[in-house]
Amino acid sequence: MTDAHEATIIDGKAFAANVRAQVAAHVTALKADHGITPGLAVVLVGEDPASQVYVRSKGKQTVEAGMKSVEEKLPADTSQDDLLAVINRLNADDSIHGILVQLPLPDHLDSNLVINTIDPAKDVDGFHISNVGLLGTGQKSMVPCTPLGCLMLLRDHHGSLSGKNAVVLGRSNIVGKPMAQLLLNDSCTVTIAHSRTQNIETIVRAADIVVAAVGRSEMVPGSWIKPGATIIDVGINRIELKDGTKKLVGDVDYKDCLPVAGAITPVPGGVGPMTIACLLANTLTACCRANGIKEPEGLTA
Ligand code: GUN
Repeated sequence: MTDAHEATIIDGKAFAANVRAQVAAHVTALKADHGITPGLAVVLVGEDPASQVYVRSKGKQTVEAGMKSVEEKLPADTSQDDLLAVINRLNADDSIHGILVQLPLPDHLDSNLVINTIDPAKDVDGFHISNVGLLGTGQKSMVPCTPLGCLMLLRDHHGSLSGKNAVVLGRSNIVGKPMAQLLLNDSCTVTIAHSRTQNIETIVRAADIVVAAVGRSEMVPGSWIKPGATIIDVGINRIELKDGTKKLVGDVDYKDCLPVAGAITPVPGGVGPMTIACLLANTLTACCRANGIKEPEGLTA
C-alpha cells in the first residue's frame, strides 16, 4: 500500500480515437443525408523526412475518417508563383474543404504570403491572418489544431475553465499564442511565459493549468508545479539516452511532476494524437460551414 499521490494521466490517444470516431460518424451522415464528402488537401514542398511522415499520417487518417484526401507534393525548388497557383487551384475546387500547407517551407518561399493566400474558410490550420483576428476577437474562426486539441482535453477534465490561472509556456504562432487566446475566451486568467520571462518558476507555481509548448526537453521540474495543477505537455523532443537509445520526451519532466500534479498528459500518447484528430474535425467543420449545414457540437472551440 502506498498513499503517495499520483496525478491522473490524461489519455490523449484514447480521446483522439474518440474524436476521430465522432468525425467519421458525421462524415457518414453527411454522405447519406446530403451526398457530400469532405475533402482535405495537404501541400508538401520538398522532402523533409519528418514532414513526409506527418503528411503520410494525415492522409491515412483522412481516408479512415471517410474523407477525400489529396496530397500535393512539390519539389523543394518550387517557385513562389507555382506554389500560389496550386493554392489558388485548391481554393477554387469545390470538392476541397480544407487546405493545409505543411510547415516549415523552404527558405526561398514567403510562408506568410503562402498562408494568407489560402481561402480563410478552407484554412484548417487556422493560421490565416483573418482566422487569427477572428479568434483574437472571440468570433467564430478556424482554430489551430494543436491548441484546439489541448482545449478539448482541458474542458473534458475540468468542465468549466472559468477563473482558472493558466500559464502558457511558449509564444509561437502555431501553439502558444492561439492557446492563450482560447484559454482567455474560456475565461481563464492567462499568462504567456517565454525564454525572456523573469521569475518563471514563481509564475508557473501560481498556475492551475500549465500548457508547455517550448520545444525544450524536460525543462519543467516538479518543483515548479502547484500541487494539484493540470499539466498539458505539447513538447515532442527526441533525446538520446546514455546507452545510445533514443526516446521521446515532452517539455515537462513527467516522472518528477507526476507526484505533484493533479493531472498530466504523457509523451507520447497525450497531445500528439489530438493534432491530426482536430485537423479532421476542422475539415468537417469547414465542409459543414461551406454547405450551410449545422456544424457538429463538441468538435470546435
Ligand atoms: N508543422 C508543424 N506543425 C504544423 C501544423 O500544425 N501545421 C502545419 N501546416 N505545419 C506544421
